[in-house]
Amino acid sequence: MSDLVLRMTDVYRVHGSGPTAVRALDGVSLSVQAGELVAVMGPSGSGKSTLLNLAGALDLPTAGVVEIDGQSTSSLRPADLAALRRRRVGVVFQDLNLIPSLTAAENIGLPLELDGRRVSEAHRAAVGALHELGLDELADRYPDQMSGGQQQRVAIARALVGDRRLVLADEPTGALDSLTGEGVLAVLRARCDAGAAGLLVTHEARHAAWADRVVYLRDGRVVDSTEAYSAASMPRARHTPAPSGTSPSPGSSPVAGMPPAPGPSGAVTPPGATASVGAHSESGREG
Ligand SMILES: Nc1ncnc2c1ncn2[C@@H]1O[C@H](COP(=O)(O)OP(=O)(O)OP(=O)(O)O)[C@@H](O)[C@H]1O
Ligand SMILES: [Mg+2]
Repeated sequence: MSDLVLRMTDVYRVHGSGPTAVRALDGVSLSVQAGELVAVMGPSGSGKSTLLNLAGALDLPTAGVVEIDGQSTSSLRPADLAALRRRRVGVVFQDLNLIPSLTAAENIGLPLELDGRRVSEAHRAAVGALHELGLDELADRYPDQMSGGQQQRVAIARALVGDRRLVLADEPTGALDSLTGEGVLAVLRARCDAGAAGLLVTHEARHAAWADRVVYLRDGRVVDSTEAYSAASMPRARHTPAPSGTSPSPGSSPVAGMPPAPGPSGAVTPPGATASVGAHSESGREG
């Protein structure tokens, strides 16, 4: 598949005006095709979340064009923009935005219900998405009855439910232990292999290794763009079988979206990757 899902052309996003104006994005162009997962890296304040918000039509550019499936977000009426977001875009926010008065399954099914699907159908899809992430037991729990990591995975399930063409994730593994975090990235990878376009904001080169490309932002500009493996200093051959003890590549899984099983050591690595030698020492985020 090679159709373009996201196209950003010379995009600017300026907050405020006058001398205190902040150019959160300063002329960014970026395209993501169906089947592709692109990692976005860069220091704090470099514009990563701003980029994701614009890509998901949660915010509009000050100048430039953001197109989702060929539709310019700036040219749509608010109701059409909302429908585009609901139907085509799944987002995992940096702060999770789960609704406290709804159970996990209800949170996940909500976008589908808002889109006119039957409650029973939305519930079935939600339970399926929870199953995909190994979270069956959480369906009837409210956010305050879950750990931070469980809430994060429910937020991810919500972003993946339905047939979203564009999946955006802002540090989706932040509250997860490294094994669970890798499992979540495997699900994201599998979604992209199944035809979604993905954008993943991450600080960890090890996580960027799941991506096809890494885009580096600094001061609101794309300063570099590379193949993922060179960023993570690790070999990556997504479509070759993983070492013994791990599952086949995500795209060949009979169940779309299933993460690879942990290997003998309990570690889930990007298919084809060996060790993450030196790749995560720079972040210092691991416990
Ligand atoms: N609503 C806003 N009003 C004013 N300035 C903003 C607003 N949102 C973001 N900014 C500024 O835009 C710049 C980019 O912010 P952004 O949140 O995109 O950074 P980030 O790369 O996601 O950072 P982090 O890694 O800390 O999440 C920062 O200088 C930030 O202060
Ligand atoms: Mg951010």
